[in-house]
Amino acid sequence: MKGIILAGGLGTRLFPLTKITNKHLLPVYDRPMIYYPIESLVNAGIDDIMIVTGGKKSGDFLSLLGNGSDFGLKHLNYTYQEGEGGIADALGLCEHWAADDSICVILGDNLIERNIRKAVGDFREQGAGAKIMLKEVHDPQRFGVATLEGEKVKGIVEKPKEPESNLAVIGIYMYDNRVFDVIKTLEPSERGELEITDVNNWYINDDSMTFEVIDGWWTDAGTFESLHRSASLVADTGANKLD
Ligand code: G1P
Repeated sequence: MKGIILAGGLGTRLFPLTKITNKHLLPVYDRPMIYYPIESLVNAGIDDIMIVTGGKKSGDFLSLLGNGSDFGLKHLNYTYQEGEGGIADALGLCEHWAADDSICVILGDNLIERNIRKAVGDFREQGAGAKIMLKEVHDPQRFGVATLEGEKVKGIVEKPKEPESNLAVIGIYMYDNRVFDVIKTLEPSERGELEITDVNNWYINDDSMTFEVIDGWWTDAGTFESLHRSASLVADTGANKLD
């Protein structure tokens, strides 16, 4: 399985912090934000990694990360997203690189307390389809929100005004190789982006989506409040902890 970290975008919710740099280069406690998703993949045993950057200071990723020696890697791959096409658009850029492999995608501003090695192993056994991870939150309106029916996900709504549950879809997704064909069928949403929630709903309709509710904390870091919270959580407990 290959790993993909999405670290593009303009980070407008963090202006002026992101006026001259990329959100994923900002500090979260003692490390740049992008360190955490790389560590999440490496701790899960995924060491073939692509970083999709974009927007401002994209060259700084190369200066900061090089070939990934801080993470015990021998090599890192980079690509560049033009414009603001959204998460699924950024993912589509990795089709050629992913070749026939399945992928684990992490949004570059998503931090987790515990490692995801078991979920990655479960998806390897699953063999085909997709897997998402969920976490109960107090502010589901900010996220993709999943509704469950027994052991299955019934559907996901992106940033619902009246959420049907408090289960947020966190920014870590696993897909089989069909994902790249699915992305080609998507239409831009109201915010003008190709939505990862549309990809996930395709797999739900295909009856090949599984889910896991994760242990430990999860947070994004794309708003002032969540960026501040991320730093406190990392300082208090550490992130990506191995069992
Ligand atoms: C994105 C996804 C959303 C998901 C969230 C997790 O939202 O669209 O479904 O719950 O990441 O961080 P965005 O950060 O683009 O608003």
